[in-house]
Amino acid sequence: MAVIVRGSQLARLLGQWHALPGRRRNPDYAALAGAVRGLLADGRLPLGVRLPAERELAEALRVSRTTVTAAYRSLRETGHLTSRRGAGSWTTLPTGHQVASSGLWTAETAPDMIDLGYAALAAPPELVPAARAAAEDLPRFLQHAGYYPTGLAELRAAVAHGYTRRGLPTSAEQIMVTSGTQHALDLVLRLLLPAGAPVLVESPTYPNALAALAARRARIATHGLATTAGDGWDADLLLGAIRQDRPRLAYLIPEFQNPTGHLMSVELRERVVAAAHASGTDLVVDESFVDLPLDGTPVPPPTAVFDRHSRVISIGGMSKPYWGGLRIGWVRASAPLVQRLAALRVGVDMAGPVLDQLVGVHLLAAADTIVPARLAQLTAQRDALLAELANVLPEWRVTVPHGGVTLWAELDGPISSALARAAEESGVRLAPGPRFGIDGTLERFLRLPFTLPVPVLTDAVRRIAAVRYDLDRTSRRQWREPAMIA
Ligand SMILES: Cc1ncc(COP(=O)(O)O)c(C=O)c1O
Repeated sequence: MAVIVRGSQLARLLGQWHALPGRRRNPDYAALAGAVRGLLADGRLPLGVRLPAERELAEALRVSRTTVTAAYRSLRETGHLTSRRGAGSWTTLPTGHQVASSGLWTAETAPDMIDLGYAALAAPPELVPAARAAAEDLPRFLQHAGYYPTGLAELRAAVAHGYTRRGLPTSAEQIMVTSGTQHALDLVLRLLLPAGAPVLVESPTYPNALAALAARRARIATHGLATTAGDGWDADLLLGAIRQDRPRLAYLIPEFQNPTGHLMSVELRERVVAAAHASGTDLVVDESFVDLPLDGTPVPPPTAVFDRHSRVISIGGMSKPYWGGLRIGWVRASAPLVQRLAALRVGVDMAGPVLDQLVGVHLLAAADTIVPARLAQLTAQRDALLAELANVLPEWRVTVPHGGVTLWAELDGPISSALARAAEESGVRLAPGPRFGIDGTLERFLRLPFTLPVPVLTDAVRRIAAVRYDLDRTSRRQWREPAMIA
């Protein structure tokens, strides 16, 4: 059954539709149809949802029914709506816009390329000392075969302690160490998601999560995040999607969401968990950025705090605050689920490397020095990125992210993919907006990470601006080798 958007909900999403640019030249119905197309293109209005009946929307918008009828007709003509008599109208996209949601990668990044496809920091200075200390620890383990499918006991204990400190009492038995957060997600999906099952994700969301879901042949539905004001999630629509669609699983990034940087409120966390429980939905909560609040932003307690029915599986890792090259991540779940994941893992990669996990233990022990330095670095880099954008691309709209490592820029047109292609020729690799959705929408957006040093970011933005101003004159389409996004 398709999710139904009520008249009042669509009216709220449409906002000031009658005051949109170009409005004066357009009749009401055309402005309304244009606004709906805009919501679809931005991913705020998902594909495959049922729009309200014409009369209901007319009442909610205080316009005549004729206006809505004409707007729906116009949407049908452009391929944005499909209707069946007696059954209603569903949002669609004109054919040919669908794109595969696979994670892409190239073996090497050219050394002189500024790679803004990655949203991850270089290693902290504490890494080499931690690796030396880990090598010193190694003899303790050499008497055994070295396979620990759930992870090294001391790392599991350290990760569990981190959750307990955040207000979620956790034992080491509830932690399974994985080779990165991505591996954690893949294992959880293998265990909990039958092939072809319905899944709810945010739009935009992390592309490699979409790739993991595509590998399970998940039937993906999206919840569109706001790009500007508020905390991003529309509570009414998100809870409605869970209750109506009853997805088998929902994948959410509540802390400094990648790519938008949004932070989910405590209230919504509690309500999402309750809705998931009522709908039989497993909630996979990706906490990749939880350790990276900027500007002293308080982080709500973990989503799993509200979980009384083992519906929430938290995943996280060391890639963002520490180093991606460590490949250390984890799952926090009930102890029996951890055992089932470990049994499954044996058929995948057996266990994680002992030495790297020991490095992880030493880095976590130094968190109180490493993390504050990362926050200072990220704050300076974010501010430099924002300043340069305001300087050379003032027509782009950005919401200041108060955590994480990325900002989500709203461009001055649906140019993201074209810009990425052109920027690559100028030595800057970008992750264009459509990579963060499932259906070729989000062309008006671009993710920009602030993980590179200030001079590199400044240089990158200047090159992007130069390319942007050339774009209108040289719109060319060329195939490019796909690049990895992290
Ligand atoms: C939301 C999210 N989840 C997972 C990952 C993958 O992390 P890892 O390197 O720990 O596998 C990333 C990396 O960018 C991410 O942004």
